[in-house]
Amino acid sequence: MVLIRERFSLTAPPQVSPPSRAALLKGLREAHAAVCTLTEVIDGNVLKAAPDLRVIANYAVGYNNIAVKEAKARGIVVTNTPDVLTETTADLTWALLLATARRVLEGDRLARSGTWTGWEPTQLLGTDVYGKTLGIIGMGRIGRAVARRAMGFNMPVLYHNRRTLDHSTLNAQWRQMSLQDVLTGSDFVSLHVPLTVETHHLIGAAELRLMRPTAYLINTARGTVVDEAALVAAVQEGRLAGAGLDVYEEEPALHPGLRTLPQVVTLPHLGSATLHTRIQMGMICVQNILAVLEGRPAPNRVV
Ligand code: DGY
Repeated sequence: MVLIRERFSLTAPPQVSPPSRAALLKGLREAHAAVCTLTEVIDGNVLKAAPDLRVIANYAVGYNNIAVKEAKARGIVVTNTPDVLTETTADLTWALLLATARRVLEGDRLARSGTWTGWEPTQLLGTDVYGKTLGIIGMGRIGRAVARRAMGFNMPVLYHNRRTLDHSTLNAQWRQMSLQDVLTGSDFVSLHVPLTVETHHLIGAAELRLMRPTAYLINTARGTVVDEAALVAAVQEGRLAGAGLDVYEEEPALHPGLRTLPQVVTLPHLGSATLHTRIQMGMICVQNILAVLEGRPAPNRVV
């Protein structure tokens, strides 16, 4: 922020919690540039109320919170923060996968509860991860980083990606398949697609029925990629072993079923939440804003 303060005046002070709609509209009324997070919905009305806006630097790699077509039509550059959060988000994906399979949170609760009576042969039995099959839906930067980590667990990787990818950039042992084949063939399915009209409820009741009853779904992408009610039903009915979730359909609210199912590990959208990564994301926002306001191409332009 020092970099910004030195050169520009701030129409709205930086704040940790999301601004109200009124504060957002007021803050952008005379702004030339805006840094926003995924909790700010920058729709057509917001853009209309910001006639001088030239650049929106989204403090996230996903930018589904911004009406990009309208922004483009108004000549507003939109940027995001790719690359710097790839490995951090992949780490958290594995934290969720392992925590879900090995019942880490249930174990933590038992160990602290004061009711633990000691080691038992059948206590909190989980599922092996080593050697199981990992399915990746969306083989972009984060999907690949998650897949690379699977090598250490000796896991075959199946993946689905809408576009056929340049195989020279991928591990030759990773196998591209249809969405259906990844769902039926995997023990763990991890989602790494952006939220778009096409990926809204990409994993619904029909897709969950294709998954093995012993399989786990991991979502660190966007909540709305999964039909949460269908997911809750699948776990409740024993058609899916469990899920590890970092994102939700109605953040910060969780579907009530998710709060009670012990087979589901829930995190509060922590994918990129390390100090180092969050600082780098901020630096990228500043660099993109400076570029646009100084008439240079924005390094991370999405539209
Ligand atoms: C993103 O970047 O899209 C994450 O969800 C937040 O860091």
